Amino acid sequence: MSANPRLLIALDFPSATQALALAAQLDPNRCRLKVGKELFTRAGPALIERLQGAGFQIFLDLKFHDIPNTVAAACRAAADLGVWMLNVHASGGPAMLEAAREALAAYAQPPKLIAVTLLTSLSASDLRAIGCSGDPLERVLLLAKLAQEAGLDGIVCSPREAAEVRAALGRDFLLVTPGVRPRGADLGDQKRVMTPAEALAAGADYLVIGRPITAAPDPLAALNTIEETLS
Ligand code: C5P
Repeated sequence: MSANPRLLIALDFPSATQALALAAQLDPNRCRLKVGKELFTRAGPALIERLQGAGFQIFLDLKFHDIPNTVAAACRAAADLGVWMLNVHASGGPAMLEAAREALAAYAQPPKLIAVTLLTSLSASDLRAIGCSGDPLERVLLLAKLAQEAGLDGIVCSPREAAEVRAALGRDFLLVTPGVRPRGADLGDQKRVMTPAEALAAGADYLVIGRPITAAPDPLAALNTIEETLS
């Protein structure tokens, strides 16, 4: 692949058949694909191989969070699949993050390793309920720093946090943002969205987009329309 597509399409489908049908309508030079917990649990490594066989680079979004030894082994399993990017929870702590990074160090072309800071579904009161006081953004910045100090490549964050994270952590740290909607698109269950152009301007490197493309009558046309707003 010569290009470095910034759009990561979330294949939030319950079956390999649906995921492959969507992939057949897309172009691997124009986007990468994100496979998450539901699809991977149903369709497994065989689907990853088929998508990669069709030329797509894969972000395996399984958000590993466990003891360091278990997470390191899971990261090696993901790297053995040849995925382009994988993720872990930053709240697993420094030892877990370092174990994940070290597990990938032996690979000639390791996947990019990024950390989830705070799930954007958690409100300030949810955080208090699990014993975390303080401002959610401060927590995002703390966890992002932890991920950077452990040598990870970047984090997942809301586009609304991207500018602060970028300012605090510098240019060489990848920011992957979901919660992106083209202007005028159906928001679905996303509440605090930015347009793709706004998210990139705020400092995002890669944009995760699902339904605006996967639920479009012509997914490639929807992708083209989004790309046009970025050039
Ligand atoms: O369809 P939509 O564009 O909303 O899909 C966004 C994708 O990003 C989904 O796979 C969703 O699970 C993921 N995601 C998110 N918000 C987060 C973290 C991940 O929407 N905070």
